[in-house]
Parts: sequence; structure tokens; C-alpha cells
Amino acid sequence: MFEKIGGCTGKNMKPLLDGIGRKITDLRLSVTDRCNFYCSYCRDAMAPSIGQRSEILSFEEIYRMSRILVGMGIEKIRLTGGEPLLRRKIEMLVRDLSGISGLRDLAMTTNGYLLKWKAAGLREAGLRRINFSMDSTREERFDKLVGCHAFAKVLDGLQAALAAGFDRVRLNTVLIRGMNDDEILDFVEFGKRMGAQVRFIEFMPLGEGNRWRKDLVVTAEEILAAVSTKYSVLPIPRSDSGQTSREYHVPALDTIFGIIPSVSIPFCDRCSRIRITADGHLRTCLFSASEADVKKHLRSGVSDDEMERFFRDQIYQKEAAGHQGESPDLATSCRRMPTIGG
Ligand code: 5AD
Repeated sequence: MFEKIGGCTGKNMKPLLDGIGRKITDLRLSVTDRCNFYCSYCRDAMAPSIGQRSEILSFEEIYRMSRILVGMGIEKIRLTGGEPLLRRKIEMLVRDLSGISGLRDLAMTTNGYLLKWKAAGLREAGLRRINFSMDSTREERFDKLVGCHAFAKVLDGLQAALAAGFDRVRLNTVLIRGMNDDEILDFVEFGKRMGAQVRFIEFMPLGEGNRWRKDLVVTAEEILAAVSTKYSVLPIPRSDSGQTSREYHVPALDTIFGIIPSVSIPFCDRCSRIRITADGHLRTCLFSASEADVKKHLRSGVSDDEMERFFRDQIYQKEAAGHQGESPDLATSCRRMPTIGG
């Protein structure tokens, strides 16, 4: 377990830096591109999934890669998808990853549908934090958005996660004008009621074709204005330089909410992330135009040292800036979220 190493990443280890000196500490690992929700802004129901099972990295491959990357300076791993709980026996992977010496944090982003059954086991296996993707607080709207009757199950999942004793449970809400931007206050109040912190995420141009438009983005400024119609809101100073969200305190509710202003205020200069897709490609930016084939290397029998050199080379070339926040080109050129990993 990570407690062993006392929250310190190998004292003698040099930080993992990219070509412009950013410290790379976060790995987002997509374990499947499949999802049981059909949110139209996120995925295309008609798009083919990765297909062949053998295209998806095995748990052994994910573990080996993670161990090497943690040895190089990665401190946090987040399991994503698709919906990561659709990957069979995901608890086994969590258990293995949580045992990697030097890893300080292991988290997951899920839609929560299966969490009622999985929360306790995941916590016990060593998962520390959970983020729920949740775009409406209203049952009818929620079910319509995700394309199935899921709201009640997600609430059960949320309760189960809160009961399981994770270090933190968060709700991530992508706001899209005309879809759910009338629920900003509802979300802040819902978060308070449930005991989970809400974070609003600006809608990014990620392969939505013509569906992404700048005017659909509900900006950080608008979100703050909406909450301020009812409550006074105090900004909380950032505690961590790699932090992507801005956090606010609502004294009247004694609650905190966050905003990730990826479009209106991109944070590329502070980005500490890399991503690995379910089919084993390294993306050094959410908006990368190209990917490196990690799987090919893993499967060609290379040594750990060679893998490390390969990762170092790729990370060195991490893009200085991924997007200018509003490029409609990205909306058509980029992979969509489920195949990248949220
Ligand atoms: N912009 C912002 N967030 C997105 N997600 C999917 N597509 C987008 C987008 N274009 C989010 C989902 C989920 C996670 C996997 O990624 O809402 O929280």
C-alpha cells in the first residue's frame, strides 16, 4: 500500500520533466473505451469501439507500464474510460496498482451506475478517491441525457461511495448551454446535501464534430455569476500549482465548489498530465494531434530501461499548449473522450 512510502516519491528521484520544464506527475489511464451511458456530447453511439479484445491493454501490461512510470516520477494515477467499472475485475487492477511503491494517489472517474455493488470492494482494494460524472440533478433530464433509466442507480452509487469511506468523492458536471446551465445553483445545493464537492467543467472541443460551438460553453465567469445570484462566493487560494480547478467557498451553505475553466482560461503552462488510451497509446495532451504506440513497445519484448527511455522521449515532446480554447478545428479532428480517457 502507498502508506509504506510515507507519501514521498523516492527521495532521491529526479522529477520527471518535459521539454519546457513542466513537472509531470499525473497519469490518466483509460481501461476501456466502452460506456453504458450514451451522452450525446461525449460519445457517438454509431462510432465503432476499439474492437478486438487483444487491442486493449491487459492488466499485466497496465501494471508494468504504471510501475515504470511511477519509478520515473508519476505520483498520481486516475483510472478512466469509457466507464472503468465495465472492465471485468477492475478491483484486481486497483489492488495491484495501489501496491506500487512511490504512488501517492489512486483515483477513478466513473458514471457511478455500477458503484452500488463496487464501492466497498474498490475502497478495500486501495482506491482513494472517486469522481462521478453527473450532468443533471433532475431524474427525468438525467435519464434522457444518458439514454437509460440510471438516475436512481447513480444516487445509490453515490451513497455507496460516501459510505465506503473514500478520501474524497466529487461530482464532475460538464455544463452546456441549453442542456443543463439552468442547474448551476441546484448542483451547488445538491453537492452540499450529498456531502460531495461539485466541479463544473467547461465544455471542450473534443471530436464532437459540429456539435461543439463556442456559444455552448458556459464560462467560469457565468458560473460564478449564477451562484452569486443567491449566495456570496469567496475564492479559495490555490494550494497546489498543478491544480486545474479554481475553488470557491459558499459560506451560507458551508460548502465548496470548483470550476475547471479549460476553455476560457487554459492551464497548459501548469499541465502535469499524460494519458494512456485503453488501446495503449500515449497522449501527452488531451488535444494531441499524434500519439505514441506504447502497446507496440510493450509487446515487442523491450526491457524496462528501454520502456523508460521511450516514455522519457515522448514526455520531453509534450505539447507546450494543446488548444487555444476555442478552435472549432479541434472539434472535428480530435478523438472523442471515451477513446482518449476522461
Ligand atoms: N468537454 C468536457 N468534458 C467532457 N467529457 C466528455 N466530453 C467532454 C467535453 N467535450 C467528460 C464527461 C466525463 C468525462 C469522461 O469526460 O462528462 O465526465
